[in-house]
Amino acid sequence: MLRFPQNFLWGAASSSHQVEGGNIHNDWWQWEQGASGRQKSGDACRHYRMFREDFDLAQSLGHNAHRFSIEWSRIEPEEGRTMDSEVGHYREVIRTLKERGIEPIVTLHHFTNPLWLAEKGGWLAPGAIESFLRYVRIIVEAYAEDVKYWVTVNEPMVYAHQSYVLGNWPPQEKSLRKGMKVAEVLRDAHIEAYRIIHALYKAKNLSSPMVTFAKNMRVFVPCNTALKNILSVYLKNFLFNFDFMGKAIKTKTLDFIGLNYYTRDLVEAGGWSPHRLLVDVCGKNHSTLEKNSLGWDIYPEGLLSLLLGLRKYNLPVCILENGICTPDDNRRWNFIYEHLKSVHAAIQKGVRVTGYMYWSLTDNFEWDKGFVPRFGLIDVDYKTCARTVRESARKFAAVCRANAFE
Ligand code: BGC
Repeated sequence: MLRFPQNFLWGAASSSHQVEGGNIHNDWWQWEQGASGRQKSGDACRHYRMFREDFDLAQSLGHNAHRFSIEWSRIEPEEGRTMDSEVGHYREVIRTLKERGIEPIVTLHHFTNPLWLAEKGGWLAPGAIESFLRYVRIIVEAYAEDVKYWVTVNEPMVYAHQSYVLGNWPPQEKSLRKGMKVAEVLRDAHIEAYRIIHALYKAKNLSSPMVTFAKNMRVFVPCNTALKNILSVYLKNFLFNFDFMGKAIKTKTLDFIGLNYYTRDLVEAGGWSPHRLLVDVCGKNHSTLEKNSLGWDIYPEGLLSLLLGLRKYNLPVCILENGICTPDDNRRWNFIYEHLKSVHAAIQKGVRVTGYMYWSLTDNFEWDKGFVPRFGLIDVDYKTCARTVRESARKFAAVCRANAFE
């Protein structure tokens, strides 16, 4: 029997735009309508209305924690106008979780921006950080009594890369310089948000919250021993995996490390320019590893090696996302099982892992890939919105309940 530490957090993660439906006031929604052929989130999983049913299911599956995000564009659909009814909605979401014995882990920014901010230039607009901090204050003032775990920003490097370097996501910029600037702005936004959250808890005489950002880490592997590939791996590892985190550690604005892990990248740089070295991955898809339905390598050993690499920070680590999209539910369970073995091995070697959130509770809107990839523990029929619990969810539930597995 492989046992996990006492009070281990077990659950799943989601984000507002991917599950709620009807998030008409954000930049993603607008972008979805912008050109034909783009996937539209529409009603998504109707989680905005069905959150009680979804949390009943999470409870029935033995979860004791749930990570979700608050949709900034619902709270503040116009600049400076706070919607009290939406603040009330998320209060109800948090209460519903707590009534079911599920610890809320609340993300403040998960890829979407209010349209008014996007129209001013998004995170590159003057005053973007101040606007974010105003929203953070409203939210933390409202829920501090009920929330211990906060995630300021989800995957800043992924956001900067997809939206500003590769140009896949809105605002579809293709500029390494802008990508690096956005990463810097998000880092400062995290640092300031961390300080505000702590100050508000102090002012309210509440015990200290646990604040982090969600860090997507990837394992980078050179395709061969060519010097440019080795240099590229070194730079990516530094810039993508560790730079942001190092700054947060230096400024003492991390109470725990929030780790999102999915895959590894084979690296073959097309040249020596900074752009090629920092951006290129191998396009040949010659890895023999099993893949998810989006073609990402499945590499559970990578989770162990990343966790061991984080040991030097001597901070607790909570896995805030780990999951697979696949039409084959047996493969989902295998994925979870193999990754949990890595988590357990890391704990044995002294990494203080405090929780594991599977991505995701239900199938959902996978950004530019739409509704085809199926990441959920729970199947969603998008015509009727009916939920069906998958077998992998039941097997995972047995682990959550036992806090251990064979
Ligand atoms: C993101 C999620 C996304 C998941 C699977 C993570 O990078 O935080 O929003 O759905 O990966 O791609």
